[in-house]
Amino acid sequence: MRVPALPYEPIPDRRAALRLVAGSFAALAVPTTRAEQLSLERAKPPLFGSAVNPRLLESDPVYRAALRRHCRIVVPEGGLKWAGLRPTPDEFRFRYGDAIAAFAQQNGLIMRGHTLVWHMAMPEWTSALQSAREVQAAMTFHIENVVGRYAGRIASWDVVNEPLPEDPGPPSDRRDTVWHRHLGESYVALALRLAAAADPHAELVINEYDLEHSGERFDRKRAAMLDLVAKVRGAGAPLHAIGLQAHLRGERTIDRVALRKLILELRQMELQILVTELDVIDWALPFDIETRDRLVADRAEEFLETVFEACTPGAVLTWGLSDRHAWIPAHFKRRDGAPNRLLPLDDDYRPKPLMNVLRRFGATDRSD
Ligand code: XIL
Repeated sequence: MRVPALPYEPIPDRRAALRLVAGSFAALAVPTTRAEQLSLERAKPPLFGSAVNPRLLESDPVYRAALRRHCRIVVPEGGLKWAGLRPTPDEFRFRYGDAIAAFAQQNGLIMRGHTLVWHMAMPEWTSALQSAREVQAAMTFHIENVVGRYAGRIASWDVVNEPLPEDPGPPSDRRDTVWHRHLGESYVALALRLAAAADPHAELVINEYDLEHSGERFDRKRAAMLDLVAKVRGAGAPLHAIGLQAHLRGERTIDRVALRKLILELRQMELQILVTELDVIDWALPFDIETRDRLVADRAEEFLETVFEACTPGAVLTWGLSDRHAWIPAHFKRRDGAPNRLLPLDDDYRPKPLMNVLRRFGATDRSD
């Protein structure tokens, strides 16, 4: 059942509307020109929110209360990935996506979707897809059904996630995935077109990591992102925003000049910027908690300052709220065995210095 409950439903351009509801949810005039849109963006604080774990949403009232208190926008951490959604080629399991959509609707939150086309979290049966025709048919069936189901409820989609290699060579380098292998780079434009057809009002996003730090590998990643965007635009595909995942490395500086340049070039192409998965990986930071929390906050601040100097992003989402339920330990475990501290709230949902940084950039608590 489709439930049009988001506050900006009557406004035809959902992307403009996303910006309108940012912050206070105040009703403002719909911007008609690009210049008006841009000045409006600068005037409003971005939406702050987090990735949501649907199992915890179901089982843990403290977790639910924290989401309600801190978030204006939510995104499923795993509930809309192929592995969970598509047990077989013909089936969809929408339970987790639906639960988060219902929670968002009940609490007046905007919902993002993550993610339609990725190389990870793919069910075993997809390895049997052996031709361009089969891969295209699977992608089409998936996007039509998933985006179609949530049209009017998911305002913004990570259509393509992580299309660039870990360490690109030339800017034209793309990640080797089942999509790229069979369809070439055109899979990106295809996915965007399919998503636009299934929900013409959704904001469509390419989401990528490692675009922020100093170093040649990061330079190459930024160059590859610009190259990809230019080609997608050249193909006439609908693309509205770039998601900076921002899984920041605590021990690495932000390349302020290069990040600013990247954002300004993307803005030149009239793309919105979103911070989609912010956290600070602390596996190489000192053990001492006070020192570590400060370094984590400082790194996020360095990043957000750079982003906000270049533009006001449409939203800032962290990849989880509390260290109690962080995804990172599975991937970036500390050698000393100490628990990671990468998110804005500690194990007991108390705000850490990172939360103060987020507040500086627009995060607010809801007191009800
Ligand atoms: C992660 C989840 O948080 C984990 O629970 C899961 O095991 C693997 O995926 N970039 C992304 C996210 O785009 O989808 C990833 O999420 C984290 C990195």
